[in-house]
Amino acid sequence: MPSFGWLITLSVVVLLGSLIYQNPEPLIASITNTLAYKVFQQIFEETHCYVTVRTNSADLPHAECFSVANGKFRRVFLDETSYDLIKERRKGHVIPGLWDGHGHLSQFGESLDSVDLFDAQSMDEVKKRLVEYKAGHEEAGTSEQWLRGIGWDQANFKGKWPVAKDLEIDAHFKDLYVMLDRVDVHCIWVSEKVSSLLPKPLPQVPGGEIPAKGVFCDNAMDIVMAYYPKPNNARRTKWIQDAMFELNKHGIVGMHDAGVFLSEQKLYKELSASDSWTVRVYGMSECDTRNTFCPDDVEKVHTANGMLHMQSVKLFADGALGSWGSAMIEPYSDKKSSSGTLLVNATKLSKITHDWAHAGYQVNIHAIGDLANRIAIDAFEEALKTLCPGSTLRECQAKHRFRIEHAQIIHPDDQRRMNELGIIPSIQPTHATSDMPYAETRLGKRRTEEEAYRMRSLLPLKPVFGSDFPVEPVNPFEGIYAAVTRRSPKTGLGPKGEKKGWYESETVTLEDALDGFTVNPAYAAFLEGKAGVIESGAYADWIVLDEPLETLDIESLRSIQVKETWVGGRLVYKRAGPMEAPW
Ligand SMILES: *[C@@H]1O[C@H](CO)[C@@H](O)[C@H](O)[C@H]1NC(C)=O
Ligand SMILES: [Zn+2]
Repeated sequence: MPSFGWLITLSVVVLLGSLIYQNPEPLIASITNTLAYKVFQQIFEETHCYVTVRTNSADLPHAECFSVANGKFRRVFLDETSYDLIKERRKGHVIPGLWDGHGHLSQFGESLDSVDLFDAQSMDEVKKRLVEYKAGHEEAGTSEQWLRGIGWDQANFKGKWPVAKDLEIDAHFKDLYVMLDRVDVHCIWVSEKVSSLLPKPLPQVPGGEIPAKGVFCDNAMDIVMAYYPKPNNARRTKWIQDAMFELNKHGIVGMHDAGVFLSEQKLYKELSASDSWTVRVYGMSECDTRNTFCPDDVEKVHTANGMLHMQSVKLFADGALGSWGSAMIEPYSDKKSSSGTLLVNATKLSKITHDWAHAGYQVNIHAIGDLANRIAIDAFEEALKTLCPGSTLRECQAKHRFRIEHAQIIHPDDQRRMNELGIIPSIQPTHATSDMPYAETRLGKRRTEEEAYRMRSLLPLKPVFGSDFPVEPVNPFEGIYAAVTRRSPKTGLGPKGEKKGWYESETVTLEDALDGFTVNPAYAAFLEGKAGVIESGAYADWIVLDEPLETLDIESLRSIQVKETWVGGRLVYKRAGPMEAPW
């Protein structure tokens, strides 16, 4: 008996083919949206082969192929001969997708929609950039939509703080609502129009400074923020999408968002279910009032698609070094009258840490100065003493994974304590290279040598590396370069323009730097085995480079460009290149 099965199949294929040919997009979309297709995708794996694949996995550190099913890696194998269903042999060299261990997603998106004041070397330059921006953004500067900018530094204004009046650049600017973030986002500088909204006299805010008329630092920023017109969800959504595109472009597949406000949490949850959410986010919740306990307002989130995880909180012990806001044990070397400001006292920090930890949250404390780091470690140690009866503090820490965000200046005694307890440092290597020109002036020789910007000394703690974007550029290869050389990724040079790196004894190997952007942030987000690695069961996130990382000249890290970025088995970024001939 002849079989008609083939004939029927052929007819269906021809019919579908002609339909797709006539009107492809809706039909393809409707097919790929069907349950049958999704089941098909889950059962059948897609195989990808490259020239080399670096896996970060002990099982098979170097491979050539892997298969993907349902957004996860299914198998990793040496070469195509071990498997016969290769979809396509691609060019390029693969490494696991990179994670930024400390960034600010929506602020980064907002910064893309703001005046870029980074590296503006004078007040005139700042004014010039503001005027140029305004010319192209008619809508910015109204009471509903303030003109925003980021990146100024008073060090570039001959060390003098700017004032509100400086923003009255011309008759037109006089009426504008302007708010500009300092380079470290720990101070804002606002126009007269914004100042006119504020209560008079200005209230005293503990942990806040108003160093000049129109400039508000740390907790004093809240005075202004109360009047800041909250962006609507449409704008926020656009910021997030723009931010994610930029992140994917630099090979980032995931990030730790170091401060998700309550108002953003709901939006994140909604958006993370959509295809336009292309970066995995591990979010640290922040209460509306800093350094408080608000368990009823936050929730733990682990979405089924693995695109959003939340089970940690962000607390703040102090401000930043650039504005003398970081809390030091001894006074600053270049400002003997001050040793910075704690944003919260040790008693209260310990209490909030204890409360959040007992509610099941990982606690991540921002600490820059050595005093802030000390009270953060104290708070963690206190909490660990009550959290796990019967275990050692170290075992308890392995369970709770408390982190110090920045961990920038740490007294040698406290470095030892961190090492004993296993507290995770979350470090931004590019902060070290951005701050190196002035850090020693501010801290003096001894503190710089023994305490500041440790990297190699903290390696046993598996430090998380990140950029703190938008404070530093998002490009993780700049962070890797900074960690490996302790030289500026912008110039390739040390603090005084020399070839030698800054305190080179604190450099780390390329291997360790890569861990800082892959497996270490995975562990610090309770995602070990799922992120930062190419192995069976992990999220299918990888990036493609033109050259294998191992053989690259270190200097070329400064200009490396990612070829492709894949998240959950989906191509989310492809570098535009010269058109390739089809033959
Ligand atoms: C710490 O701060 C809290 C509230 O901010 C305050 O009630 C308490 O008295 C302070 N404790 C010390 C020792 O200063
Ligand atoms: Zn930050």
